[in-house]
Amino acid sequence: MEQRNKTLGEFIIEHQAAFQYSTGELSKLINAIRLAAKVVNHEVNKAGLIDILGAAGDTNIQGEDQQKLDVLANEKFIQTLKNREIVCGIASEEEDDFISINSHDELHQNKYVVLIDPLDGSSNIDVNVSVGTIFSIYRRITPIGTPVTLQDFLQPGVNQVAAGYVVYGTSTMLVYTTGHGVHGFTLNPAIGTFYLSHPNMEFPEKGNIYSINEGNYVHFPQGVKDYIKYCQMEEEDRPYTSRYIGSLVSDFHRNMIKGGIYIYPKSSKASNGKLRLLYECNPMAFLAEQANGRASNGYQRIMEIQPTELHERVPFFCGSRKMVEKAESFMARYP
Ligand code: AHG
Ligand code: MN
Ligand code: MN
Ligand code: MN
Repeated sequence: MEQRNKTLGEFIIEHQAAFQYSTGELSKLINAIRLAAKVVNHEVNKAGLIDILGAAGDTNIQGEDQQKLDVLANEKFIQTLKNREIVCGIASEEEDDFISINSHDELHQNKYVVLIDPLDGSSNIDVNVSVGTIFSIYRRITPIGTPVTLQDFLQPGVNQVAAGYVVYGTSTMLVYTTGHGVHGFTLNPAIGTFYLSHPNMEFPEKGNIYSINEGNYVHFPQGVKDYIKYCQMEEEDRPYTSRYIGSLVSDFHRNMIKGGIYIYPKSSKASNGKLRLLYECNPMAFLAEQANGRASNGYQRIMEIQPTELHERVPFFCGSRKMVEKAESFMARYP
């Protein structure tokens, strides 16, 4: 049985042995993410003080503007990963192109690439509602010692080696998988340590929460409209409860604990929905499947989609397995 007072640092070391041929590189990488998460957590926590701290900064002779928090989070993650020379490439929602690291340095032959959504749900910051960070890790497919190429980032989600998120909520949690279940760690802010608080997290097979931005109802495809009506029908265990925070990380986290489905469908306004395949959907899909849940685009498993561009978007149905399957059955009526 897992000890409940284990720290994330201890957990990473213990589980490194589980990887065949492990060189410790992935453990170091997750450690770097843990560190960046603490730095971003600190920034997020003082977001409400921006005006006050900004005023103090007026003396800054360079007259620098207060950075937007998603740009700041992006910089913190990239800096931490770069400084620790732990990856060969990074792609981020906030960067137009991927970043190649140490590509010509014989000393730094790293094999992993990281894809991140540095701050997810950033529109919630101004109103003090939970936001998150999402990350996804792949082994590069081009040879070590050569510069990374777009190919290294455009891999289907099934190739992920690890994925996870940080939720900056009432407590800050880091939740991740390396393909051996999903484990959640809660930050004790007094001492800056993550503790294993949620070992082996799993979606209930079925829940009673549906999460979708219903304001877009008129623009939804018929299958989604029908499924929403099904959720609202008074029958069996329905109507379900509607919960939508507008932060994918927080909506996913709640649904994993309580049981539910999250949908961001395509619409007549956005033909592939809004969420990004590489920075949001694939990592969440890996976590969902590792937690006995399911993730699809309404017709096809998310992790089997072959990406064609860095910032591509995809419709997203994710959560408790039976609920996602039900939604898919509605979609199948309108192929
Ligand atoms: P981001 O802040 O990283 O750009 O992502 C926002 C995403 C996601 O977190 C959330 O579920 C969705 O946008 C909400 O979109 P709507 O406001 O259209 O519902
Ligand atoms: Mn996002
Ligand atoms: Mn973002
Ligand atoms: Mn954004």
